[in-house]
Amino acid sequence: MGVQENIEQIKTDGLAALKQAASPEALEEVRLGFLGKKGTLTKILRSMKEVSPEERPLIGKLVNAAQKELESALAAQKEILEAAALEERIAEGTIDVTLPARPYAQGHAHVITQIVQEIENLFIGLGYTIVDGPYVETEYFNFTSLNTPADHPSRSPRDTFYVKTSRENNQVSDLLLRTQTSPVQMRTMQAQKPPIYVLCPGKVFRPDTADASHLPQFTQIEGLVVDKGITFADLKGTLDYFAKAIFGEERKTRYRPHFFPFTEPSCELDVSCAACGGSGCKFCKGEGWIEVLGCGIVDEQVLINAGIDPEEYSGFAFGMGAERVACLRYGLGDIRELVQNDMRFLSQF
Ligand code: DAH
Repeated sequence: MGVQENIEQIKTDGLAALKQAASPEALEEVRLGFLGKKGTLTKILRSMKEVSPEERPLIGKLVNAAQKELESALAAQKEILEAAALEERIAEGTIDVTLPARPYAQGHAHVITQIVQEIENLFIGLGYTIVDGPYVETEYFNFTSLNTPADHPSRSPRDTFYVKTSRENNQVSDLLLRTQTSPVQMRTMQAQKPPIYVLCPGKVFRPDTADASHLPQFTQIEGLVVDKGITFADLKGTLDYFAKAIFGEERKTRYRPHFFPFTEPSCELDVSCAACGGSGCKFCKGEGWIEVLGCGIVDEQVLINAGIDPEEYSGFAFGMGAERVACLRYGLGDIRELVQNDMRFLSQF
């Protein structure tokens, strides 16, 4: 047999063998047999020196063509085998529909958001509207309009984050990060006429070092009512309802005289300690009572500053810390836990 016929034969045999290869291993064996280092086609290439110089170009061309054809047939067969293997795996892989579904890791609102929303809903139920105010406030809204004199300690830079107007001369402006949500009272009164029944939750800022009972940024919930004939009885009725709804029906309330510049009279609302029921324990430091919020009858001067006639209208206001409410409700010993984002802690609520 001449070299040409030989090449033709090898090609035909190779193509037939490739077609019959039914597994990747068989395919590899065929490849080695024809195209490998010791493969039949490779052997022909090696023996080119025995071919006469005139014949060499033609034989070389034939070998290359045969090699190309075998290689593309190899690739095609490989694809066929892979597709078949995939089909087989799909057919085998029956789904067990009785297996329980994998649980979906679903998140939920942060405990402070939950508390705020719960208190919002409570007051919405009483006919209140939710209002909002800016975090960066003016001294006027945060202090002056709320009857807070210029020398009041809360206005000191030790107790308030003032916003600098210029980096160079370190001058402070009359802008500050609001220290309380009370300025929203004044903004609301200047923007809408009584009757006013509003609740304003939001962040407030104070230059306090974080410790077990302080955070430099926390959440307050402010309430304001201005209407005809509002008295201290309305304040008590509303806040008693709030305290029992949030802390439990069995809790007692106490209104302890206090001072706030924007209310007169002012007081702090205490609820009986849940841990001891009022007899005094470690949690309430022997008091039997726990302070929850500040409140009072809106000072006449504040109404005047808002352009509301105190002869016609009166009102009450209150302000509480949402983090504090969370601590009291869940018996948390350290307020910082609320902002450390430890999922083991947060997922309990
Ligand atoms: N703003 C007060 C504070 O941050 C809390 C407060 C007290 C708000 C009495 C009021 C109020 O509306 O009437 O300590």
